[in-house]
Amino acid sequence: MAGIVLSGVGKVYDDGTRAVTDLSMSIDDGEFVVFVGPSGCGKTTALRMIAGLESITEGEIRIGSRIVNNVPARDRDVAMVFQSYALYPHLSVRDNIGFGLALRKVPKDELTRKVEAAAAMLGLSDYLDRKPRSLSGGQRQRVAMGRAIVRNPQAFLMDEPLSNLDAKLRVQMRAEIGRLQRDLAVTTVYVTHDQTEAMTLGHRVAVIKKGELQQMAPPQELYDRPTNLFVAGFIGSPAMNFLPATVTNGGADGYRLTIASEEWRLPASAVAARPGLAAWAGQELIVGIRPEDLGDAGMAPAADGHTISATPDLVEPLGSDLMVYLAVDVPHRVEHEDFAELARDAGGDIGDDTPAGSDRSTIIARFSPRSSAAVGVPMRVSVDTEHLHFFDPHSGAAIAGAV
Ligand SMILES: Nc1ncnc2c1ncn2[C@@H]1O[C@H](COP(=O)(O)OP(=O)(O)O)[C@@H](O)[C@H]1O
Ligand SMILES: [Mg+2]
Repeated sequence: MAGIVLSGVGKVYDDGTRAVTDLSMSIDDGEFVVFVGPSGCGKTTALRMIAGLESITEGEIRIGSRIVNNVPARDRDVAMVFQSYALYPHLSVRDNIGFGLALRKVPKDELTRKVEAAAAMLGLSDYLDRKPRSLSGGQRQRVAMGRAIVRNPQAFLMDEPLSNLDAKLRVQMRAEIGRLQRDLAVTTVYVTHDQTEAMTLGHRVAVIKKGELQQMAPPQELYDRPTNLFVAGFIGSPAMNFLPATVTNGGADGYRLTIASEEWRLPASAVAARPGLAAWAGQELIVGIRPEDLGDAGMAPAADGHTISATPDLVEPLGSDLMVYLAVDVPHRVEHEDFAELARDAGGDIGDDTPAGSDRSTIIARFSPRSSAAVGVPMRVSVDTEHLHFFDPHSGAAIAGAV
């Protein structure tokens, strides 16, 4: 096994399309890293450059201690698992799993031993003599995994391996891939456009936009401390709400926040955690609020009494939660170029949710199902001001550390 290091990696295709720009990261030995981002952002291209299936235009890729830029795919000692499974229809499960080993002229009994061990690990022992066409989608995906496992590679590279499966099977296989990776502890790079897959599988998740790495961090850190509007809007479902606001420095009285015709005193702890806010006094910025940081103030008053008035446009009972789409009175909608990218992507897997930025005078709240929020009835909504996010409205960068 080995770590993988990308240094300034870029890719321009022959037709001039730039797919990846200045990608740098260090993936630890045994780590599970997920590349996530909207369709067309360059995830597959980046993975194929690591695999050696695509040439590298700029930069350097190392697998273990070896620079592999000019090492052909078959000599990189990595195993790729594709969305399409790429099984041989005329071969049995046994021969499909053992195909790479047979090609390498691995002795017969060693091959049998390895194939049977992998099959046992994947629950395929009873299917070894079947042909792929008689297997379910989940079983076919396991055969593809088995073929990768028997090679005992330095790294697994997986490109949307679950996207051909139905929703239920996808969740099951996701758990299996996670368990398998933990058991085998093989360095894994996994590509998906599905943020739930990314968050549940990755030790660290790399969020990519238009070929550029936005942030690479453990899932909870991405969620709690997104580095910019794009990451904030991409990670989380329903997406973070964004509202225009102004921060003013009230001197001894601390900082005040003007948002949606309300004015609040910001908690000293929230300001202390974001020294960068000082430079924004008197200027408009963007405030981000997660749906779960909003509440029905009629049920449980906000700890610090901070509320906004809003009117439900739509109330969706999910059993465990009540999703409430709230119209709020803001001076204008928040506009940022990143929202176009996010809204485009929301056509896919998070299609049920209002895409980030599609209508920023509507915010989405996750209330307790006991809330009596009703469409058309104005209400007070509590806001957890400890957990607000602040962004530069021009660059989209999070306002956090000192500037
Ligand atoms: N062989 C190719 N020739 C030219 N452009 C390509 C080729 N493959 C992919 N692209 C382009 O490169 C960009 C990134 O594609 P891809 O890596 O497939 O993205 P993702 O896997 O994130 O959906 C897209 O704009 C895509 O159209
Ligand atoms: Mg792809």
